[in-house]
Amino acid sequence: MPWVPNRPPASEQLCLLASLLGCRPPASEQLFSFSGLQTFSSLVPVPTEIVLPLDVPTREAARPLLKQLQGTVPWMKVGLQMFTAFGTDWVREVADAGYKVFLDLKLHDIPNTVAKAVESLAPLPIDMLTLHTSGGPAMIAKACAAQQATKPDLLLLGVTVLTSMNTEQMQAVGWHDDALTQVRRLAQTGSEAGLRGFVCSPHEVASLRSELPADTRLVTPGVRPAGADLGDQSRVMTPRDAAHAGSTHIVVGRPITAATDPLAAAQAIAAELASVE
Ligand code: C5P
Repeated sequence: MPWVPNRPPASEQLCLLASLLGCRPPASEQLFSFSGLQTFSSLVPVPTEIVLPLDVPTREAARPLLKQLQGTVPWMKVGLQMFTAFGTDWVREVADAGYKVFLDLKLHDIPNTVAKAVESLAPLPIDMLTLHTSGGPAMIAKACAAQQATKPDLLLLGVTVLTSMNTEQMQAVGWHDDALTQVRRLAQTGSEAGLRGFVCSPHEVASLRSELPADTRLVTPGVRPAGADLGDQSRVMTPRDAAHAGSTHIVVGRPITAATDPLAAAQAIAAELASVE
């Protein structure tokens, strides 16, 4: 189970001051020692939560899932497919059905445009929102400033390298390092620019956990219960292993949506996560 700091508000200010003075300890010390900043922080275990991606073309196809999974799955991911078709009303309907909403729009544009998009989305009942870290530190910083000013509880998540990018695809856009090196670089840049969460492969979690601040949320697709059909995912991890590695949220789609009994499938994953210490 991932552990993150549980800081009282006054300590947040001390953290900010310490970080401005350049005395933030390395992430590994924040996680595992109670020296330095941790003298006024405590670590609390964060149960890893299930996110269901609503990868369906119609609201009629999604509504039975919303009804069935209430109370078992805390998060729904609304991506480009449904947001483009059904817009903000659909986001409100999902939230009204009792879910936290992860709006996966992967924003990527000039800093002003992304910041304005964050401001426009702020009135919506959303809890996580994605942007591309490859948009650069200025874009990220301006998006974070807009989020802080308009919706302080919203978690902005940085997308690093899309898992659809293989070596050939990466080289075609001028990324000549291997994927993990590029992921680590983008996550570090994103973290320094203000992001407190990233989407990554479960196989990248351990590496990012050791390098990023302890309160960083890591959201991982590519999760499959043992024995489940992999679909088009190749490098997968079980829910238990992803939680052990430090994923705070796992995105699990087809193992739930394609199951004969989606509720039973989701309950089994929730039980597996609950057994992780
Ligand atoms: O059905 P499955 O569990 O493979 O769904 C995974 C979800 O996570 C899909 O919505 C997919 O688009 C998304 N995703 C992913 N890999 C990424 C980023 C997002 O599988 N790197």
